[in-house]
Amino acid sequence: MHSNEDLFKDLNQRREEALLGGGQARIDKQHQQGKLTARERIEIILDDGSFEELGMFVRHQSHEFGLEKNRPYGDGVVTGFGTIDGRLVYIYSQDFTVFGGSLGQANAQKIIKIMNLALENGAPIIGLNDSGGARIQEGVVSLGGYADIFLLNTLASGVVPQISAIMGPCAGGAVYSPAITDFVFMVKSTSYMFVTGPNVVKTVTQETVTSEQLGGADTHASKSGVAHMACKSEAECLMAIRELYSYIPSNCEDPTPRVATSDPSDRADADLDTIVPANPNKPYEMRSVITKIVDDGRFFEIHADFAPNILVGFARMNGQSVGVVANNPAVLAGVLDIDSSIKGARFVRFCDAFNIPLLVFEDVPGFMPGTDQEWRGIIRNGAKLLYAFCEATVPKITIITRKAYGGAYDVMNSKHIGGDLNFAWPTAEIAVMGAKGAVEIIYRKEIEASEDPGATENQITEDYRSRFSNPYVAAEYGYVDDVIEPSSTRLRVIRGLDMLKNKVSKHPKKKHGNIPL
Ligand code: HXC
Repeated sequence: MHSNEDLFKDLNQRREEALLGGGQARIDKQHQQGKLTARERIEIILDDGSFEELGMFVRHQSHEFGLEKNRPYGDGVVTGFGTIDGRLVYIYSQDFTVFGGSLGQANAQKIIKIMNLALENGAPIIGLNDSGGARIQEGVVSLGGYADIFLLNTLASGVVPQISAIMGPCAGGAVYSPAITDFVFMVKSTSYMFVTGPNVVKTVTQETVTSEQLGGADTHASKSGVAHMACKSEAECLMAIRELYSYIPSNCEDPTPRVATSDPSDRADADLDTIVPANPNKPYEMRSVITKIVDDGRFFEIHADFAPNILVGFARMNGQSVGVVANNPAVLAGVLDIDSSIKGARFVRFCDAFNIPLLVFEDVPGFMPGTDQEWRGIIRNGAKLLYAFCEATVPKITIITRKAYGGAYDVMNSKHIGGDLNFAWPTAEIAVMGAKGAVEIIYRKEIEASEDPGATENQITEDYRSRFSNPYVAAEYGYVDDVIEPSSTRLRVIRGLDMLKNKVSKHPKKKHGNIPL
């Protein structure tokens, strides 16, 4: 007979063993590489003392390749639930000190258990990834484990937010679970993602490339767009995820909590009245517009380094979370190209799935011309943004600050595709194209026949500009709801969001749409 004391002692010993993961030497190695352990990461991301671990004593049942002699508690992943700012989240954190965080059957089942709990209880799934991929010794069973996770990622998509942090290697098919999730955060210098590593690349394509170049944080945050943020450190990454969660709801049915602000609703920033340059070809920074309008100047930007000609991110208006989508005239004149369309579309769909109102700032000269864009499918890809805005039923407000030309006018949340409130600043130019281009096309013959073609062209261009390059033609048709002083934008948007807070808009019954992928 054991006394209770002995039983508790035994429990504590087992716990201590589990907490050590793959042992002190491997923990030290993790630290030497500039990485935190799975548990240290959980401590940072969750509220103090809120973590409840599940499956601490799980061990694999494999007998292949001598694995039966090595059965560490936890099996390479720490799983459970806790809170961020008092709100429930489910979390898994891969433990690289145990079999390199690799995923076998038991490891996968632990992740699946918390994913199912998250789905049933309506709270986000946060995955902290640091793993050598499929556990080689467990073979096809590991592949099956990944596929089970991919399926649940897909089923959970749009039901609860899914957020991935990449904090070490993430290779092979393992990258596809994060890829299905809503947001991927990476850490500079210590994390990488690729389908095949540099050695395979060398063999197949003869390219010489480092892991960092091939799939480091900067690569994915700027070139491929796979990552939404490249963070300087693990702590910064984990804190960024905490902030992200403050802007989004726990599931697709709950509202996002309001956050009290001391920023007055009627704050009028006079700088906005002069921010758009008189010369329509002169750039300005749309981030400055956004930060002057939103609560406390805080714009939590996502995907900042990828396709910077469009800006996406979260902010609050009088405490209510909004998704901001904005053309940025400071980069490529704010043109819509393939990458910016894809970036915008994915963000719009996230906001719509989770009932976050959309606030759109528009200054766009059109879609990017050229063979590169046409051959790579600007038609198909530009259509993604169009489709996403058309499909979105959340409250949608557009502010046209300057150019709204051509197809891009329609695409950027125009009234026609469901914009609820479309405001224009007096500086807006809503037209099929810019005055110069329009005149060259429709008055070419008159200009060529005139005695002084240069002067004639200038005269006609001025006439065209004063007649069409303004917001009033669109306002006459009701395509913009009002022309407003830029400095009044904050108040007008806050009142608009308040007015739209009970909006109900439904689509025709269908299984699902077919967004042009
Ligand atoms: C089992 C693994 C493992 C794996 C690493 N380890 N990867 N064990 N299966 N996939 C173990 C190592 O044996 C080692 O154990 C410990 O983890 C740390 O590994 P190291 O190699 O010493 O670490 P490091 O030098 O930092 O290199 C990390 C690494 C490398 C780059 C991740 O380990 C590696 O290349 N691993 C294999 C990656 C891979 O090819 N995975 C399969 C991808 S295919 P000890 O006991 O010495 O500490 C895939 C398919 C997914 O994932 C399918 C989805 C559809």
